[in-house]
Amino acid sequence: MNFRYFKPAGQMVSLLGFGTMRLPVIDKTPSKIDEPAAIEMIRHAIDSGVNYIDTAYMYHGGNSESVTGKALKDGYRDKVLLADKMPVWLAKAPEDLCSIFDEQLKRLDTDHIDLYLIHNVTKGIWDRALKFGIFDFLEEKKAEGRIKHIGFSFHDDLDMFKKAIDAYPWDFCQIQLNYMDVRLQAGVEGLKYAGAKGIPVVIMEPLKGGKLTDAVPDSVRDLWASAKIKKTPAEWALRWVANFPEVVTILSGMTTIEQVRENIRILSDATPDSLSPDDLALISKASEEYNRLIKASCTACQYCMPCPAKLAIPDLLNYYNEWFLYGQNPKVLADFNMFIHPKARPSACTGCRACELKCPQHLPIADIMKEMAAIFEK
Ligand SMILES: NC(=O)c1ccc[n+]([C@@H]2O[C@H](COP(=O)([O-])OP(=O)(O)OC[C@H]3O[C@@H](n4cnc5c(N)ncnc54)[C@H](OP(=O)(O)O)[C@@H]3O)[C@@H](O)[C@H]2O)c1
Repeated sequence: MNFRYFKPAGQMVSLLGFGTMRLPVIDKTPSKIDEPAAIEMIRHAIDSGVNYIDTAYMYHGGNSESVTGKALKDGYRDKVLLADKMPVWLAKAPEDLCSIFDEQLKRLDTDHIDLYLIHNVTKGIWDRALKFGIFDFLEEKKAEGRIKHIGFSFHDDLDMFKKAIDAYPWDFCQIQLNYMDVRLQAGVEGLKYAGAKGIPVVIMEPLKGGKLTDAVPDSVRDLWASAKIKKTPAEWALRWVANFPEVVTILSGMTTIEQVRENIRILSDATPDSLSPDDLALISKASEEYNRLIKASCTACQYCMPCPAKLAIPDLLNYYNEWFLYGQNPKVLADFNMFIHPKARPSACTGCRACELKCPQHLPIADIMKEMAAIFEK
């Protein structure tokens, strides 16, 4: 494993971090984590040098923290920096911050969290966090030794990112970045902004939640095949992120042990500024090709859920994208009809837009549901 220096902790961290948002599940049910498989994957990663583990209160319907806690038993807890996050939007009053935090320690079965973030900072969540005195709370926990380092994870625009960065002497921050999101949210400019201020940056969604590796369109495959040295789609994407010296660790939410092994291999020799001009040009071409094909840049993060009308929004958006990615192939319609319950189809959307308030990608979901109803339910 390759390591980079993480200044606030005064230690090296692995370039690959384990994100526990996409652990293997049973019966396609996000809350039913396949515990033995997940524990094996996390421990294999740690045995291979990974020492950054990222979880959150809401992942896997609240079960990611407890499974992470189980994986970190038998001496594994001391080998890693454990990151967890405060879901400020769930707090109805300032006291709730404390009760949520205590529940997290209990679920993780640990007495402290090394890296603690304000989760999913957007304008609305930022204002609520300030109203609830988030920094007093975080500093109190730090003084008690329950939190070691303070950061935030981010899903809004560049101006908001700069505002958040300038508002507090952060130990680190976490942003979404992949070769498709160069100018989305904080983007590359945000990465450089934080880097210039000496704030270490942790990257999430380097494979765009798997969108850059699942069902790669033929035109993008042809581009990858044209490279002199062949690499998998995951390798191109991870190496693009690792190329930035400002990046300290790259979180990937791996779903199989094979993915864990591959990502360990890739990030074991990825050094900053090591991609050639030809490599970078090829990745730019792939990005242009995707941008030509993709309509809704959903990362299936599930933040939009639950939907009051009980729509499985990320699944529906996936069909929407596949429809355009695969040239309006009738197989997409057939799958949609087979897997989406008639009562949970896009026409059931009430247009309440509750999902849009929470979507980190700011997708116009209600409008897309209308468009989908016209295509898929005609
Ligand atoms: N704080 C926040 O606001 C926030 C938001 C999002 C994420 N996060 C954190 O950041 C972590 C990373 O984000 P992410 O999970 O979206 O990461 P990601 O690496 O972009 O996406 C993970 C998905 O990519 C696919 N994948 C991974 N390795 C692969 C490989 N070698 N070959 C082929 N496919 C591969 C898998 O998809 P398939 O299962 O489809 O194969 C996997 O589920 C999360 O797990 C979570 O801990 C935080």
